[in-house]
Amino acid sequence: MAKRSSLHGLWSSRLAFIFAVSGSAVGLGNIWKFPYVAGANGGGAFVLFYLLCVACVGLPIMISEVLIGRRGRRNPIATMRLVGEEENSHPSWGLVGAMGIVAGFLILSFYSVIAGWSLAYVINSAAGQFAGGAPEKVSSLFASLLGDWQTMALWHTLFMSLTIWVVARGVERGLETAVRFLMPALAILMLVLLAYSIRMGDFGRGIEFLFKADFSALTAEGMLAAMGQAFFTLSVGMGAIMAYGAYLPEGTSITGTSVSVVIADTLVALLAGLVIFPIVFANGLDPAAGPGLIFETLPVAFGQMAGGTFFATLFFLLLTFAAWTSAIGLIEPAVAWSVESHGQSRARSALIIGVVIWLLGFLTIFSFNEMADVKLFGRTVFENLDHLTSNIMLPLGGLLISVFAGWAMCKNSTAEELDVGTSFTYRAWRFLARWVAPVAVLLVFLQATGLLNAAGLL
Ligand code: TRP
Repeated sequence: MAKRSSLHGLWSSRLAFIFAVSGSAVGLGNIWKFPYVAGANGGGAFVLFYLLCVACVGLPIMISEVLIGRRGRRNPIATMRLVGEEENSHPSWGLVGAMGIVAGFLILSFYSVIAGWSLAYVINSAAGQFAGGAPEKVSSLFASLLGDWQTMALWHTLFMSLTIWVVARGVERGLETAVRFLMPALAILMLVLLAYSIRMGDFGRGIEFLFKADFSALTAEGMLAAMGQAFFTLSVGMGAIMAYGAYLPEGTSITGTSVSVVIADTLVALLAGLVIFPIVFANGLDPAAGPGLIFETLPVAFGQMAGGTFFATLFFLLLTFAAWTSAIGLIEPAVAWSVESHGQSRARSALIIGVVIWLLGFLTIFSFNEMADVKLFGRTVFENLDHLTSNIMLPLGGLLISVFAGWAMCKNSTAEELDVGTSFTYRAWRFLARWVAPVAVLLVFLQATGLLNAAGLL
């Protein structure tokens, strides 16, 4: 088959692709979201189920996304449609790409607000506001940020502007530097925090909370949240990795790359958990505090350690960078689609799409103050956006993507793209993509809706 070429150029090297994908994977999901969702769902069993989902569902779907992306070499909508047609399947597979683009919009709208908190904390830290690290003082500082929608709007605006700016210029250059130097710096800083947690925190209880699994405490909701977290943290299920795969040169190992990214992403999340929970327990804080968890615990540690002002400032700066490289990945599918299908320039596309997402972000901002009492299904608007995207849209998108790669695409095409022959690796991927991933997502969905119980199956 004649190979298509990308309309946006290719990554300069395999390393550039690894940087882009790990930049998109490692972000707020690992450091902000993982600890608080694990905390809210009781730790242990949640964490194990999350790890299982990462390995058996997230990884094969990531591989599927990259291979579909490289085969189609277009934005996710066009890619799924084109490859679908080539495989004598239905062109309506393009709808999966469309759902992914919508998911990216919704996720970025709240992601940018949280990244804005991180930016606000750069300034708060630099101003020495956490000195002493008294937990009451730290939590009242956070509460005052949440109560002040204008300040939140300001930081959200700044973060979205930064995102629009890089995406408008074309991603590669800035992204590579950010990921090559700043991500390792973030990892090192987290090791510094880990040393603090081991010495000053209640490390034993932290470990126990994170790894001691009591499966009777894992609810159907908790399982859904763990699966959603696996999708969210790996950036899979919405075509973002597919969009990046479209710029991947031929002859690069897809499986090897995906495995490295998944391992790195998981290590960062576990590291974040190992840092946070010992501090939580040593200071009598609540592991189920919700989305403010890291903003209410890390400053306690920074406030108490030597050089804390410096470390805190650097930490929140690097966290913002990590969020930034993820934000770029969230918006790229939509921008690629606008450029390819509507002939808009990159800059114009990034601006228009960015402004729509920026506006949507106000729903999240107000969820923490003016609209905190506006609830649907017992959740605020922010909680609904998060639940709808992480726990429903991403897993559903992922399910369809794995069915597409495992069933709609023929064996020859996927084997050719993965280029690992009919080795164990290929067969393992295909088995996971055809059976394990779709069935797992379905079961967790059924379980969470209570349908399995209703049918008397569990
Ligand atoms: N993985 C990102 C994080 O952990 C968030 C994210 C979810 C994402 N879906 C994405 C990033 C798609 C880029 C593309 O912070």
